[in-house]
Amino acid sequence: MKNIWLDCDPGHDDAMAILIAAFHPSINLLGISTVAGNQSVEKTTANARAILSVVGKGNIPVFRGQGAALLSPMPFCAEIHGESGLDGPDGNPLFPLQAPPEMEQPWLPAMKEAILQTARETGEAVWLVCTGSLTNAALLLTMHPEICQHIKISLMGGAMGIGNTGPVAEFNIENDPEAAHIVFESGVDLSMVPLEVTHTVLADEEVLDRIGTHSPFRKKITDLLLFFSETYKRVFGFDHPPLHDPLAVYFVLNPEAFSCREMRVDIERSSVLSLGQTVCDYYGRSSGKANCRVALKVEFAAFWDEMLDCLERAEPHYVG
Ligand code: RIB
Ligand code: CA
Repeated sequence: MKNIWLDCDPGHDDAMAILIAAFHPSINLLGISTVAGNQSVEKTTANARAILSVVGKGNIPVFRGQGAALLSPMPFCAEIHGESGLDGPDGNPLFPLQAPPEMEQPWLPAMKEAILQTARETGEAVWLVCTGSLTNAALLLTMHPEICQHIKISLMGGAMGIGNTGPVAEFNIENDPEAAHIVFESGVDLSMVPLEVTHTVLADEEVLDRIGTHSPFRKKITDLLLFFSETYKRVFGFDHPPLHDPLAVYFVLNPEAFSCREMRVDIERSSVLSLGQTVCDYYGRSSGKANCRVALKVEFAAFWDEMLDCLERAEPHYVG
């Protein structure tokens, strides 16, 4: 059993990461913390609660995390995820949003306690899966450095070459370069699933055919992917959308499906041209010590089997 805490910014692909984390039989999802990114943290939090609620997993706690980067506000990504952060083809939120709780519980103590208690009980590290900016992860490691020995981080983010929000910067890292620097310098066991890998995992016609629309839940997931497909086509010219975030969860489940290379990764924090770049020293040419396991490719057929199996597990619980 893999004990996971998911830190995310739902977002269409984050929503798929929530579904695989919540329904995979080998995962115990301890909780979710949210961060601004794809949309405001109020919206990403509402989206996380909404998707858990419609599949009968409202018991999984969701904590609202940071609404801005450590040193700056965050640009949201409505062009890809819509105004709600989880828009459907009709431009409305895919899932009914609930009223937020009267008082949001502080995310940092909840995350820290859940991780430390689980690590004590199991004698194993807890996986912190990050599929948004690393703001919350950086604060956790800064305020509670002792937690470094009790977690392993699997993050979706970064790029060895071409970026997406910038010529060489990927959205999650560029949104908070200082936070990424803190995480990459912390000494934590760190695995990075970059764009070079996620851009090979496309929700194409074959995937859509396998999901189908023969139930309200499958229709809803198809709508989610069609919206994501349309925005990726319009903005990036992709024929099919890359399903970035569930791969950071899949890395925890099946690391052998990934080819990886340990390398030094530095975060560009000052250049105007390349702010947020993950500078990956593939050949070890710098003097820096390797600090990250970088995924180079993934056997994505096995991923889709697992993802679709989790959708099948979620389907009977759907209350749309
Ligand atoms: O660059 C892709 C990443 O940015 C994904 O996590 C997506 O959800 C956005 O957060
Ligand atoms: Ca994300």
